[in-house]
Amino acid sequence: MSNAASRPLTASARGPLRGTVTVPGDKSISHRAIMFSALAVGESRIEGLLEGEDVLATAAAMRAMGASVERGDDGTWRVHGVGVGGLQQPAQALDMGNSGTSTRLLMGLVSSHPISATFVGDASLSGRPMGRVIEPLGQMGAEISASPGGRLPLMVRGMCPAVPITYTLPVASAQVKSAVLLAGLNTPGVTRVIEPVPTRDHSERMLRGFGAELTVEDGPEGKIISITGEAELKPQHIVVPGDPSSAGFWMVAASIVPGSEITIANVCMNPTRTGLITALRRMGADIAETNARTVGGEPVADLVVRHAPLKAIEVPADLAPSMIDEYPVLFVAAALAEGRTVARGAHELRVKESDRIAAMRAALTAAGVQTEEFEDGLAIHGSAGAPLPGGGNVATLLDHRIAMSMTVASLAAAQPIAIDDVAPVATSYPDFFETLESLTG
Ligand code: S3P
Repeated sequence: MSNAASRPLTASARGPLRGTVTVPGDKSISHRAIMFSALAVGESRIEGLLEGEDVLATAAAMRAMGASVERGDDGTWRVHGVGVGGLQQPAQALDMGNSGTSTRLLMGLVSSHPISATFVGDASLSGRPMGRVIEPLGQMGAEISASPGGRLPLMVRGMCPAVPITYTLPVASAQVKSAVLLAGLNTPGVTRVIEPVPTRDHSERMLRGFGAELTVEDGPEGKIISITGEAELKPQHIVVPGDPSSAGFWMVAASIVPGSEITIANVCMNPTRTGLITALRRMGADIAETNARTVGGEPVADLVVRHAPLKAIEVPADLAPSMIDEYPVLFVAAALAEGRTVARGAHELRVKESDRIAAMRAALTAAGVQTEEFEDGLAIHGSAGAPLPGGGNVATLLDHRIAMSMTVASLAAAQPIAIDDVAPVATSYPDFFETLESLTG
């Protein structure tokens, strides 16, 4: 997983986009579905699981710690959990591939079990900061020895019983929040996370669904999330809704390619995830919601997206947590808008699968787009709907979202864009190119 061969692509204009696409299962929800099922007592069933490399890394890790995690021929996953407190010592290092979510959440789980685990990953993951989880998990009693800079490879020696803490998040991060809550699952007493800025709340929703005692209140500093430890999780039947981050590529593609009209079915509309829709609508995008419903405890809708001329905006910084993974593709929309779009307050982009501010600046520059870089964002001078020049070479830096965003940019480019490696797309959206083919074929 860590040494996948690279896959270059020369991406060319095509379209318009027409038809219906069903996006794969949400990545965040899929990770959590496997982890929580693996901690329940009995058999859980999961439908619609994202079968991308990141989620498969989580599945392999839970197997290595004693759970049975299997895919049936009908595509339903069956997980026999070990019970909270029942994780076993893995025989080998846990290979997290490219996945920050697997790493940080599993570090939380291991921290309050009487086991130790070594975490390794690919070059991208090995460059990402883990200090943000090492700090609170250390307070709970885990001993963590990391590579210089608080990076992978690292070893977590769990503490059992761990010490419950109250932790105020210094960064808006659902991964850090979840790591502490998951450590709290097997910790006696009540573990609290105070969240000054709301981030995706899939852990909270799903833990409750599994029967954990978890409350959320408003406090003076923000939301107070409390979990009562030594929980017993009851097995569930989970239906994973479609990933709004994956849907984002088609929202932008249909918005920028003239003549496009598509339906994106089954998109998770959890308000902590819909910032891209808000930003695109402010730019003038034509995105309609139909068939609103609830799937697996999450709001879901189908989206109808038609091509529309886009106008530059100042992207409000407070949208950042609800569209943090969508900035690369938003930058592509901005490149086709009329005027100068400014997106700031998104410093976290520097520590994703790549430094997404630098990576997207380089990629858009290669495609002939004028940009300005700030420490916490980018300004982009749009073409007012004219095709981008294209023609350059893009480095994806082991980052799936750079690869998919620049493939979307190529749809509206005069010359093909050479992308050095689209293999990372398999981490979150294995069928991306087949779907592109079907929408433009
Ligand atoms: C995720 C949280 C976000 C997001 C990541 C998935 C999660 O990361 O960027 O792709 O599933 O909790 P941060 O918590 O680092 O913001």
